[in-house]
Amino acid sequence: MYNVILHILKKVNNLIYEAVKYLRHGDIVAAPTDTVYGLFGDATNDNAIKKIYAVKGRPSYNPLIVHVGNIKMAETIAEFNNESENIANYFWNIVKKPLTIVLKLTNNNISKYVTSGLQTVALRCPYNKIAIDLISEFNGPLAAPSANTSNKISPTSYSMVKNDIGNKIPLILDGGECNIGIESTIIDLTKKPYIILRPGGVSKEDIEEFLHTNVLFNNNNENNTIIAPGMMKKHYSPNLPLRINAKEPNTGEAFIAFGNTNIKYDANLSVNSDLYEAARNLFYTLSKLDDPRKYIGIAIMPIPNVGIGVGINDRIKRASYKY
Ligand code: TXA
Ligand code: MG
Repeated sequence: MYNVILHILKKVNNLIYEAVKYLRHGDIVAAPTDTVYGLFGDATNDNAIKKIYAVKGRPSYNPLIVHVGNIKMAETIAEFNNESENIANYFWNIVKKPLTIVLKLTNNNISKYVTSGLQTVALRCPYNKIAIDLISEFNGPLAAPSANTSNKISPTSYSMVKNDIGNKIPLILDGGECNIGIESTIIDLTKKPYIILRPGGVSKEDIEEFLHTNVLFNNNNENNTIIAPGMMKKHYSPNLPLRINAKEPNTGEAFIAFGNTNIKYDANLSVNSDLYEAARNLFYTLSKLDDPRKYIGIAIMPIPNVGIGVGINDRIKRASYKY
């Protein structure tokens, strides 16, 4: 048994070394994070970053998040003050929740394609062993968007990455299913009041409790402004139409329930009405039911709009947007 574990550990380590070799050559690899799988490339290498945009079919004006192994690495990239350092320390090191912080960029070596030419940079330290091992072994910052074709559902398992972009990249590290299941929360710390640009795996309530002050949601995104382009109206979409706030399925629709219900469902995000469990199951469930041979559409029950329910509702609203 012990030998088997050692063998597996060695295999994982070898794959990390292999991944780092690709990264050093300006190639890109997919790997798990705590939230969703990411498509990683050397943040200082223009060619690597161009490959990320090409594989995803992502517009170049949509900047990427830079992943760091610790605060020290982050401090070589952006301007921190006491408060931003405390925020990073609390969410990255203490509670280990997925918070991405936007700060003023100070490092000329970060590719301009990462930031889409902005003077700011989005930084996060993922709480996932494979992601952290990858960054440590590479010994530098890695840019990564979610490892999916632009506008499609973000992948939360190895096979979701493989089915979507597996034939376009040299390596996918398999870390099983992601623990959080929706992307990180992005907060802009460059000015006050702080603004949440994208709701996600850390709730507004958690952030406010730590800061002892209110933060705002970015609500001016109805006209597709690119403050955080994950905020475009249509995003995260399955192929089938998605109907939200459904009480029951229409004929031919797959039905996704939340909580204890008497209505017959095809999947339940959380029988116990646990929003963390629902977030973890969301993208996987959507991708599993996204089968036009079986269904004409997908209907999903209302999800409470509190805590990380706000992040879940943000994703399903964008997934349901038709144009
Ligand atoms: O959980 C996550 O955040 C995942 C994993 C892989 O880390 N990554 C992710 O990346 O969701 P992506 O590319 O799908 O979304 C990144 C978001 C985009 O909405 C982008 O506009 C925003 O981050 N962003 C990046 N740099 C920014 C900046 N300087 N200012 C404002 N928003 C920025
Ligand atoms: Mg994405």
